Amino acid sequence: LTAQFGTDFIRLTCSGTIAVELALRGTGVTAGDEVILAGYDFPGNFRAVEAVGATPVLVDVAVSGWTIDPAQLPLAESPAVKAVIVSHLHGQLAPIGEICRWAAERRIAVVEDACQVPGARIGGKTAGSWGTAAVLSFGGSKLLTAGRGGAVLTSSHEVAQRMTVFAERGNDAFPLSQLQAAALLPQLKQLDERNSIRRSRASQLQSLLAPHPAIELPPAAPAHHESAYYKFGFFVTAESSAKENRERVLAEAIRQGLAIGPGFRGFYRRSERRCRKIGSLTESRRSAEQTLLLHHPVLLESPETMERVALALGRAAAAR
Ligand SMILES: Cc1ncc(COP(=O)(O)O)c(C=O)c1O
Repeated sequence: LTAQFGTDFIRLTCSGTIAVELALRGTGVTAGDEVILAGYDFPGNFRAVEAVGATPVLVDVAVSGWTIDPAQLPLAESPAVKAVIVSHLHGQLAPIGEICRWAAERRIAVVEDACQVPGARIGGKTAGSWGTAAVLSFGGSKLLTAGRGGAVLTSSHEVAQRMTVFAERGNDAFPLSQLQAAALLPQLKQLDERNSIRRSRASQLQSLLAPHPAIELPPAAPAHHESAYYKFGFFVTAESSAKENRERVLAEAIRQGLAIGPGFRGFYRRSERRCRKIGSLTESRRSAEQTLLLHHPVLLESPETMERVALALGRAAAAR
């Protein structure tokens, strides 16, 4: 993994969720600190911040997207902010280079969540090698799966050492078993080739869906983003009640036989007692209410299958 992801140290864990918590502990986040994260993210990331006794600071995601908006970061600054969690989600890669530069100037750690995009590259550099620490998930449905499991990657000796001190209690408290590791090894060799097929199918689907009035796609990715697709995401455009629209389309898409689900619930409604919110989190709310996610296995099927998927999605979206 260190060779494939280009970092010096790795700690295998029992899940991606625990990997986020360990990464935060590794970067030195502790009780009373603040951690910035997006108002739309994996629910466990909010809980991981709370688990180390820190307070989440929520900033909005980029317009029509799922990843943290770097323009929001200066608004969230405070002396208590020690880290920012940056998740690459639903095939969209965050502008991690820009965020790492901003954070480095302020001695803020970056925890890069690459659970959904193993093998993706930004400007030729692997997602997961940018942050002070980064996390992977080997959960049952993931692109690399051991049924359960995860990892923290870092090139900082200090971060690695803090994690070891926390996790080694005479034994590894959050281990990945040897059997799980054995299941993962052959998948590592196939990752690049499979990512490339999924990328090509995702791009075909984007072209096929673009003309549909009830479907909105995120803005086109910059040319230096080479993504990976654990989920293929898109938005159901809102007419009146965004959430009801989305539920109708989802029910119809499932009826058509598609492996599809809603996006994350997001944190825009979280109590201000549990977090500090920056602005109104409008885009996070939109992403939480309007996102649908096509599950990755279909992206290894043929171009003809993508045409059938797009037709079925189009029919379902018309049910809005
Ligand atoms: C972005 C992100 N982070 C973290 C996780 C947590 O991974 P795990 O399910 O292995 O705990 C997930 C799982 O879906 C995820 O999508």
